[in-house]
Amino acid sequence: MRLSKPNIQLNAQGKLHHFLTLEGLKHTHLTEILDVAQTFIDPATGEINKVDSLHGKAIMNLFFEPSTRTLTTFEIAEKRLSADVVNLNIETSSTKKGETLLDTLWNLEAMLADMFVVRHNESGAAHFIAKHVAPQVHVINAGDGQHAHPTQAMLDMFTIRKHKKDIFDLKVAIIGDIQHSRVVRSQIQALSILEAREIRVIGPTTLMPSNPDALGVHVYHDIEQGLDGVDVIINVRLQNERMQSALLPSEKEFFNLYGLTKERLKFAKADAIVMHPGPINRGVEIDSEVADGEQSVILEQVTYGIAVRMAVIKTIFDNAQALKK
Ligand code: CP
Repeated sequence: MRLSKPNIQLNAQGKLHHFLTLEGLKHTHLTEILDVAQTFIDPATGEINKVDSLHGKAIMNLFFEPSTRTLTTFEIAEKRLSADVVNLNIETSSTKKGETLLDTLWNLEAMLADMFVVRHNESGAAHFIAKHVAPQVHVINAGDGQHAHPTQAMLDMFTIRKHKKDIFDLKVAIIGDIQHSRVVRSQIQALSILEAREIRVIGPTTLMPSNPDALGVHVYHDIEQGLDGVDVIINVRLQNERMQSALLPSEKEFFNLYGLTKERLKFAKADAIVMHPGPINRGVEIDSEVADGEQSVILEQVTYGIAVRMAVIKTIFDNAQALKK
């Protein structure tokens, strides 16, 4: 008999204790986060107001890899929830003197951390940390290697829901480096859990995963065929830092074959939205006319990232509180 692996991110009530991956989560876990995120957005102004939910909680952001959007929106989210926030500067930390990751963590725990938000270039780093922290400490994965970026996928789902209401009805195309992108892995998981009608991935064979059927996606090597009639287009960048060898003749060649241009956008539905998790590389995977065009919701994704990250953090602390009762 094959036993399923225990999901270490769930507590005894089956609720989120950590947020490490979307794999193994249920429709209700995702919709709860999306619904809670909505409550943080003022319906009249669209502002995200400060609330007093996490007064006295200490959240530490440990970013071992560069970030603009994720780190900053996590920090804003934590402050809007009234938590105490620490951004550990890895470059000036004692990890540079040879201190191990676990010793660093245990010292931060001794400073009474309640939650770690972790970005790391090693796949599995957030899981490793979650296995070694004290039982009352929570871990959120802010991107690990090419494994997962679950809060990015959730803010993407929130953005889609804002524009398209029911994900169930949608055809979604993801274009670019499917093989090396942690964002794409998490997006495919989120779209599958939320039962999107069709998930397409578009790109060259060298940037495709070896098991597309297992992922439940339809593969297209021709961008015009892949975009035909879709409701949502997600563009992702070439993850050059994760390629072991040159998998493309050149960036120019990639743009010629797979770059999202105004002309190619016409193959999608007229009201299709264009998304990108960022950072964007203009003239490589996307043309500026599209990135800055009317159908682009790229900067909205960034703003919604605040509300969605607030929702993930608050849900985890609320679940812990409920368990104590
Ligand atoms: N989308 C994303 O993860 O961007 P950053 O690397 O800037 O955080």
